[in-house]
Amino acid sequence: MAAAHLLRASSSRASVLFVIVAVFAGFSEGREAGRDELFAETLRDEAVARLYELGKVTDADGHLERTFLSPAFTRASKQVLDWMKDAGLKTWVDQMGNVHGRVDGRNASAEALLIGSHIDTVIDAGFYDGTLGVISAIAAVKALMKKGRLNDLKRPVEVIAFSDEEGVRFQSTFLGSSAVAGILPAKAFEISDKSGATLRDVLKANSLEATEESLIQLKYDPSSVWGYVEVHIEQGPVLEFLGYPLGVVKGIAGQTRLKVTVGGSQGHAGTIPMAMRQDPMAASAELILFLETLCKSPAKFLNRREQCRSLSGDSIDGLVCTVGDISIWPGASNVIPGQVTFSVDLRAIDDEAREAVIFEFSEQLYEICDRRSVLCTVEQKHSAGAVRCDPALSSHLEWAARTAAREISGGFTQTQAPVMMSGAGHDAMAMSHLTKVGMLFVRCRGGVSHSPEEYVLEEDVWAAGLAIMNFLESL
Ligand code: GLV
Ligand code: MN
Ligand code: MN
Repeated sequence: MAAAHLLRASSSRASVLFVIVAVFAGFSEGREAGRDELFAETLRDEAVARLYELGKVTDADGHLERTFLSPAFTRASKQVLDWMKDAGLKTWVDQMGNVHGRVDGRNASAEALLIGSHIDTVIDAGFYDGTLGVISAIAAVKALMKKGRLNDLKRPVEVIAFSDEEGVRFQSTFLGSSAVAGILPAKAFEISDKSGATLRDVLKANSLEATEESLIQLKYDPSSVWGYVEVHIEQGPVLEFLGYPLGVVKGIAGQTRLKVTVGGSQGHAGTIPMAMRQDPMAASAELILFLETLCKSPAKFLNRREQCRSLSGDSIDGLVCTVGDISIWPGASNVIPGQVTFSVDLRAIDDEAREAVIFEFSEQLYEICDRRSVLCTVEQKHSAGAVRCDPALSSHLEWAARTAAREISGGFTQTQAPVMMSGAGHDAMAMSHLTKVGMLFVRCRGGVSHSPEEYVLEEDVWAAGLAIMNFLESL
């Protein structure tokens, strides 16, 4: 039954991704909708208009930037709450700034399906990352309301717009979904943003509570929840390469974020001889290049170590390492810096392999720092294990995606939706601590994301909304 073709995408960015096109069984092929039942007005036209509208809600001039509980975030959350009301949902905002909209369906006390994504963004973001999942879920509920089917739902359905998935403001990620999943520790209230404001300060300034009691209230009771579903842009090139609008996520890579601080001896750029410097900038450059070499050829390094013998393959599935943020003090062209800090973002499908790479990086880091007489510290800011999506939920989502693709193409598409791993992090990672999770990916142009160039075809926005509508109707 589950025969599979293994495809390797050929473009350079796609070459690290393997896609398993699996055959799922168990859901009827028979559902055929007339064009008027496809709700193009709600699922495509209005959804696309809302994506553009939210894309304009920004704290910055000239680019999209909407981080956790910023003024733009608050405006966006009010807008999303209104759209949830418009879709027939009962709404509220919780103590971590997450926006919720719920409909009870036929049985208010049955386990609820949670469906969501995030409305915070990276800096200089596109319009779709996170927002697409929230807007397509609201659109699907609204289409069901128009169909007069909202109160027929077998179980409660709750749409959640999470407040922080990107982790830009506090470098922590998943503040919103971790709180709902009950895995956010009280010590998280003490983390601070670049301005020095703690999470507690920021919550209080937004009239939100920051107490152990509020964390207990935020946490959902696992016995009240049936599962969590998330729609998200793929953020990679595979679906476009395969020519399919939607894909099913089989799992999400684990990730670690580190903050490396390199302290040196600040001094005059014109007077200190090269041999007498303790330059944290040059040391950071060596560390960053070493990280790149390690992640390109991990086996070369890890095989040397007894404890890493099990990881003797030439590559580690999905291993990627990035330094995306660097700060220099004091930052002037005629000053040898006193201190450099930089971020490390490291991901892999295999948690043990990810730990081994971090261990190797730290070992080499201290050696390099000793040799250069600079003082280095490494702080772990975030760590999340890889997540496997629930097979039955994934199979159900595959049926919903395939049906939507077929309906929109007028019966043309018959093949199974591709099944893939996610290298990007998602709220589903945190939600997997609460309940079973499933995800759908939506094709995006050129695989580009975390960029204003991010783009999803209007027909694919429609496919996403229709797939969720199909899924909700078949619960
Ligand atoms: C979220 O977008 C992440 O994977 O960093
Ligand atoms: Mn996202
Ligand atoms: Mn993102």
